[in-house]
Amino acid sequence: MNFLEKMKSRYTVKKYNPQGKISEDKIQQLKEIVQLSPSSINSQPWNFVFVSDSVIKEQLGEASYWNKEKIVESSHLIVFQVLKHAEDFEKQIEGRLPEGSVNFYKNFVKTKGEAAVKSWMGHQVYLSLGVLLAACAEMGIDSTPMEGIDPDQYDIILNNEKYETLFAVALGVKAENDSNQPNITPKTRQNKEQVIVEL
Ligand SMILES: Cc1cc2nc3c(=O)[nH]c(=O)nc-3n(C[C@H](O)[C@H](O)[C@H](O)COP(=O)(O)O)c2cc1C
Repeated sequence: MNFLEKMKSRYTVKKYNPQGKISEDKIQQLKEIVQLSPSSINSQPWNFVFVSDSVIKEQLGEASYWNKEKIVESSHLIVFQVLKHAEDFEKQIEGRLPEGSVNFYKNFVKTKGEAAVKSWMGHQVYLSLGVLLAACAEMGIDSTPMEGIDPDQYDIILNNEKYETLFAVALGVKAENDSNQPNITPKTRQNKEQVIVEL
């Protein structure tokens, strides 16, 4: 299958096989892949929390509304977090990034105010979600991206001083009867004509 075919066959899993486990080798690869995600000025304002512990998964599941069962029955959950404070971000880039990059941040991002800085950092983390979902498609790993979680509860459970939760992705092996798979529920997208503009 080429990559296009793999992207056609990937989908958001709604029901996992609780016995299904992702191999440690694949998890190690995913850790490296997500860490390699590109970001504006190479800012990398993120943390990726890989959860395989069933007790913690259960606690996070309780804080995930209608997504609970997916999390509990998944093999792994990755929680995507972003730096809480601009000051910590500034420390993280000072000395690590070239002066031109730091100046881009100072002149084009920071000048827009604190809310804009937070939003910009969040955008970078969402890019890494795209990388991860594409990697899962390539590697044949079933996945569920989820914003339907309570980030404040996640932060209490994960207790990470500098980072706060944005969203999470469950990984695992789909249940044979998962009704969201494309052969049962075909994928829907807007027409190419509506979203691709050629000039
Ligand atoms: C950022 C983001 C958040 C999402 N949150 C949820 C969620 O909380 N629960 C869920 O079942 N699906 C969630 N989805 C899945 C989307 O509904 C799904 O990607 C979209 O309908 C396209 O379907 P497909 O992924 O099966 O191709 C989310 C997707 C993204 C990208």
